[in-house]
Amino acid sequence: MSTLAIATAREIFDLLRDDLVAIEQELGRDAASGVSTITEIAEYLREGGGKRIRPMLLLLSAHALGYAGQGAIRLGAVVEMVHTATLVHDDIIDGADIRRGRPSANTTWGNEKCVLAGDWLYMQAFKVALEEKDLRVLDLLIGLTQQMVEGELLQIQKLGKAVSEAEYYDLIFRKTACLFAVSMRLGAILAGSTEAQETSLAAYGRAVGLAFQIVDDVLDLTATEEVLGKPVASDLREGKATLAVIHSIDHGTAADRQTIQRVLDDRSFEHVTREQIQQILVRNSSVEYAMSVADRYAEQARQALASLPDSEFKRSLLWVPDFVVARDK
Ligand code: IPE
Ligand code: IPE
Ligand code: MG
Ligand code: MG
Repeated sequence: MSTLAIATAREIFDLLRDDLVAIEQELGRDAASGVSTITEIAEYLREGGGKRIRPMLLLLSAHALGYAGQGAIRLGAVVEMVHTATLVHDDIIDGADIRRGRPSANTTWGNEKCVLAGDWLYMQAFKVALEEKDLRVLDLLIGLTQQMVEGELLQIQKLGKAVSEAEYYDLIFRKTACLFAVSMRLGAILAGSTEAQETSLAAYGRAVGLAFQIVDDVLDLTATEEVLGKPVASDLREGKATLAVIHSIDHGTAADRQTIQRVLDDRSFEHVTREQIQQILVRNSSVEYAMSVADRYAEQARQALASLPDSEFKRSLLWVPDFVVARDK
């Protein structure tokens, strides 16, 4: 592993500030449609902010390999638009009413308009990506979008079921980690990297993405809505068993399993309280287990950077896994 120290959040934002401002401008231009409802929804989503972690990864990947062109701005906006489109559709599917600390778009505009706005955003992302005139870029984005849609569909199929850990990892790769991997890959492609470099950076993105979704799922169980800016305890209420819950199902008592299954069946805390579930998770150290898996992926991500030449961008990439596991929103 590199002997380089790990950068801080402040250093990374300073390092990427100009690019991130340019990406916001690009996103502003890209949110405009001839149909005002689409512009309103796209603008609302853009203004809602968000961590912008996927464009940051793309920028770091491209710059770590010496890239200095405008393509990273465009493709940074592209991955954020794909992400936003999936969030719009995800909130409709999950029936979520808050996102980024504000009413979710479906709450304000309704499902019908938001399905269409999500579709429009996907296509806007592809249209901007087309400007790169690189079929590999389109190929990656098409494969990615299919993986994400497949991930959400598989999740629907498994609702209410006690899925295995292996099924869980497959699902979160598709719905979340694949986009992290593609963001890293796109940066590498822009920089004209070797295949080996591209593969390592994609492995990094995958590992960071898996850690990211594991932590997202833990936060759903442990955080408050005020801090998180989106609904909490929602996964169980939607019939989704995530890693900590799967751990309690696999390692708890028969009574623990029954109690959890009851919530998954009811899709509510009507017969079993949230506190009962918390107690089961505590007794089985299941949140600790999930976080230890996230830590393991964070370490795997750092290892994947071993052959990357040293730079301030590499230092930043080394910091991201720490941020991902330590974040509270
Ligand atoms: C939310 O992603 C969806 C998941 C993959 C868990 P983020 O947590 O990156 O959402 P924003 O963009 O910061 O709001
Ligand atoms: C991530 O899953 C969904 C996407 C990849 C769109 P979640 O359903 O857990 O995401 P949040 O918690 O709503 O952000
Ligand atoms: Mg959701
Ligand atoms: Mg979630």
